[in-house]
Amino acid sequence: MTTRRERAGALGAPIDRVDGRLKVTGGAKYAAEYPVANVVHAVIVTSTIAKGRVRKLETAAAESAPGVLAILTPQNAPRLASQGNNTGAQGPAARGAPAMRVPTLLQNDEVHYNGQPIGVVIADTFEHAMAAMQMVKAVYDEETPALDMATTPKIPPEAVHPLGGERAYKRGDVDAGLAQAAVTVGQTYTTPLENHNPMEVHNTIASWDGDHLTLHESTQGIFSVRNSVSKNFGLAPDNVRVIAYFTGGGFGSKGGPWSHETLAAMAARHVKRPVKLVLTRRQMFGPVGGRPRTIQRVTVGATRDGTLTALRHASTSNTSTLEDWVEPALSQTRMLYEVPNLETQYDLVRLNVGSPTFMRAPGESTGTFALESAMDELAYALNMDPIALRLKNYAERDPESGRPWSSKSLRECYALGSEKFGWKSRTPAPRSMRDGRWLVGYGMATATYPARRQQAGTTAKLMPDGTIDVRAGTQEIGCGTYTIMSQIAADALGVDVSRVKFELGNTDMPETPASTGSVTASSTGSAVHDAAVALKAKIDQLVPGGLASNSAADIIAKNGGQPVEVTITSKPGPEQQQYSFHSFGAVFSEVRVDPDLGIIRVPRVVTAHGVGRVLNEKTARSQIQGGVVWGVGMALLEETHIDPRNGRYVNADLAEYQVPVNADIGTIDVHFVDEHDSHVNPIGAKGAGEIGITGVAASIANAVYHATGKRVRDLPIRLEQLL
Ligand code: MOS
Repeated sequence: MTTRRERAGALGAPIDRVDGRLKVTGGAKYAAEYPVANVVHAVIVTSTIAKGRVRKLETAAAESAPGVLAILTPQNAPRLASQGNNTGAQGPAARGAPAMRVPTLLQNDEVHYNGQPIGVVIADTFEHAMAAMQMVKAVYDEETPALDMATTPKIPPEAVHPLGGERAYKRGDVDAGLAQAAVTVGQTYTTPLENHNPMEVHNTIASWDGDHLTLHESTQGIFSVRNSVSKNFGLAPDNVRVIAYFTGGGFGSKGGPWSHETLAAMAARHVKRPVKLVLTRRQMFGPVGGRPRTIQRVTVGATRDGTLTALRHASTSNTSTLEDWVEPALSQTRMLYEVPNLETQYDLVRLNVGSPTFMRAPGESTGTFALESAMDELAYALNMDPIALRLKNYAERDPESGRPWSSKSLRECYALGSEKFGWKSRTPAPRSMRDGRWLVGYGMATATYPARRQQAGTTAKLMPDGTIDVRAGTQEIGCGTYTIMSQIAADALGVDVSRVKFELGNTDMPETPASTGSVTASSTGSAVHDAAVALKAKIDQLVPGGLASNSAADIIAKNGGQPVEVTITSKPGPEQQQYSFHSFGAVFSEVRVDPDLGIIRVPRVVTAHGVGRVLNEKTARSQIQGGVVWGVGMALLEETHIDPRNGRYVNADLAEYQVPVNADIGTIDVHFVDEHDSHVNPIGAKGAGEIGITGVAASIANAVYHATGKRVRDLPIRLEQLL
């Protein structure tokens, strides 16, 4: 018998990805790569105005172009049973919750943003479809779009429904708290529009068999796509099968369906052949949502010794004219620090841009930029170390709910991160550190993200060859889901990871939540764990010694020749009302700024996080590193530009939408505080997907201030702001 630690692929061990070989050899098939017989190609025609109506689409020339099979327009497209859904990536929206995903599906002639789908060209080849698409001429009745956040009125407060919490939250008396403060900081911070750019653009292959639809789809949520698309066609959910064995990144943008799935299915039904629809990179800006702009006002006061007396944080973000979607930028402010007097408030502005959506740590990434910049400003105003200020106001329990934390190692994160970074060698005064001509700055910030758990199902089955087949309808979006689920099952079964064959990505499998919001390890991981435990118990009951001392053939024989199999549903329990579940961390950044040219470099970032049990040290590290890279992009590079005249997405490609490249990234030194959360779920893991980006932009902005003495409150930080 091997011990737990020695077993190959034990939980926590930094094993290589079990699907690594498939990925590097091209054996991993992504949606559009599926060889579907008789497939034809669709491309989307998009609007060139931001607001108005499509009076008509002139399609005659395009229709007679080579290879063209059909063109769908608002005039001839089939009417759907419903348009859009109210089930977002984070669960069914209750009444009063924000609308999510009202895709444009050619059901009317309205134009809400520049780049909106207004037609679909179907042809025998992709090239024929693209060529014909460019021959379609739209005639519009154009109206003046709302594009300016500063001049467009806010929508009525009663229409603002955040994802988490209330539109306006209050505890204590902020004005009274500010009156007690010796020092007050009140500033406005802004974050820009940003768009996701996963390597794999959104795509789908739609095939009908009578009233049954199969979608090979690039998604973070196969069930979310199934539920929405089936509703659009007035079908039972079981009539739609969604398959996604590999997804080439999503980061929130593939958390639910957009227009293209339903448009592909409409096209396939119309031409009676399978249809492949791959968005262009440009169509990732608008038809697929991104992060909205935020304007955040933070006012914070403290006594001389740094004790917070009041905190007010208001966020105005933009939505589209199709739906009201609020960037949840204020969640962390309600729970991160012990402050008796606190107010948060959301406002919303409707612009003629594509609908915003979840983007990596939606809310916490933008919100921590403002909050953790303000805390840094307060630390300077108090002449206090920024870590000491945070420790002074450390929340021993959740100040919002009053509940104890399920686990919290933030103190340890500050200590470990500052030690690894060498924080104590920092001289606090701005412009006090140099290396040759470079101004050197050290900055830090707190990271946090909720640890959510949702219901999930799994089937586990002993196969005649001795392997254990484990299936759950989850997604592999690049995080290492195949790998960690295999490890979880192997650990619970007491076998080597090589004996587990984990399968995912098909709505024929037990339902699990969308891979969004850091829920997968916690939710689907718990289901995989519970299914493995149940299968092991069943086998142990059948044969003494269980899997360790019996062959699969003997075990199956003892079961009367029947498959030994369990299917379970795993769900959170009463602990959800007893504890507050969050991951925490600390981010430390070093920047170097050229004093004459304003060039900003980030040679190193050090992180320390407490994310519960680390299921695979290698994949978890990759998650945090990816988040940090994105945080560097958020701090210094990323911004979607909209033409103020016509609402066109100006930099809708990877040449002009700036993201970090290897030369922009220095060392990223990732540390985890040993933490096992015994309340969050049976595996003790809180999830590591989203937290990595939180706090990063603030830590860089704070380091830029330390290096230069210039406080930049508008992202991205550009060199011209430092000159
Ligand atoms: Mo999450 S917003 O799906 O990265």
